[in-house]
Amino acid sequence: MSREDSCRPGNGAALPTRAVHAGVGRDPVYGSVTTPIYPSSTYDYPQPGDPPEYDYGRCDHPTRRSLEENLASLEGAHRAWACVSGMAAIQAVLFLLRSGDHVVAPRDAYAGTTRLFRTLLARSGVEASFVPMEDPEAVRAAIRPATRLLWLETPTNPMMRLIDLREMVAIAREHGLLTAADNTFLSPARQRPLEHGVDFVVHSTTKYLNGHSDVIGGAVLCREKTHAEALDGIVRSVGVGQSPFDAWLVLRGVKTLVVRMAQHEANARQAAQFLEERPEVAEVLYPGLPSHPQHDLASRQQDGPGGMLSAVLDPTRVDPVRFVQSTRVFRLAVSLGGVESLLELPFSMSHGSLEETEKRAVGLVPELVRLSPGIEAWEDLRADLAQALAAAAVANS
Ligand SMILES: Cc1ncc(COP(=O)(O)O)c(C=O)c1O
Repeated sequence: MSREDSCRPGNGAALPTRAVHAGVGRDPVYGSVTTPIYPSSTYDYPQPGDPPEYDYGRCDHPTRRSLEENLASLEGAHRAWACVSGMAAIQAVLFLLRSGDHVVAPRDAYAGTTRLFRTLLARSGVEASFVPMEDPEAVRAAIRPATRLLWLETPTNPMMRLIDLREMVAIAREHGLLTAADNTFLSPARQRPLEHGVDFVVHSTTKYLNGHSDVIGGAVLCREKTHAEALDGIVRSVGVGQSPFDAWLVLRGVKTLVVRMAQHEANARQAAQFLEERPEVAEVLYPGLPSHPQHDLASRQQDGPGGMLSAVLDPTRVDPVRFVQSTRVFRLAVSLGGVESLLELPFSMSHGSLEETEKRAVGLVPELVRLSPGIEAWEDLRADLAQALAAAAVANS
């Protein structure tokens, strides 16, 4: 399916319209309304040395191309590449670095990202400094002559701290640095970092973009044509492009992103307000609450507070482990952004591999619960949280 054959709602079409239509292939044979899955690993050459539009499935294929055009439209990107996982998408950006380069990254990013920087990246001679990137002065202070990239994740997982994208882009331009933002927590329905001048966006499409907890995937996107050739080469050579079946699932999921996100966000807001009023909860971390220290920044750089929140329980009143084991609608599992509500204890689960001291240094304590409300009815989620708090009350243990 060539780019010309794909459905291209005008640039003026609203985001919900583009989520449904952008990139979706026009099928010239049967008129299929959805993009077909093309599982072929290889394609006919008209003659040697004259490659067809797609020649080998690792490098590119029509189903992946459809998804990539859709994602590029939503993020306002020059180009997108759908990858086998969020970590693969992150790696694709890191392959742009060379031995001797230095990266500044958040000290409270997703644990998998931190681990990647500390192990594989360090082994290839790239050093990273982990700083509180909510503080621009800390970022400035960490920049060295060898610094090449500012790695951004906003909000951070699971501390829900925001990084000021415009401020980071200004700093990067002063020093001639690249910027890359992990936009997994908000999705393009709530934040589009490229519009703020960021160079690259990555996603774990496993989360909100697919939205149904049934595929592992990622995406990397770039704003400028000048970066596209290098990224395309990386995706092809390293072989991180997504399979036809998985790309098709993500494309199906992304069509309902906007309506799902509205319901995730409505439930997250209600959950944040409910938990903030409960005596068993010491603190709620949700950028949509006026009590969040960066509530104003959230209003400026995001189109809404999003669907993720964290709550610090008061362990003298409620046992965190019993709480997460007592919910019946919220499932106890890592990951996020699916239609079903999930919750977890990052200290021992998603961020379990980090050193205890570094977790505590950023405020990640054992009693911090991360919640990813799904799209269920709020009354059922409310009743579930209330009964779990009661079941986990310390007096009952
Ligand atoms: C913010 C963030 N970025 C990246 C990833 C990695 O994505 P994946 O598990 O799809 O490789 C995750 C996974 O939880 C995440 O939360």
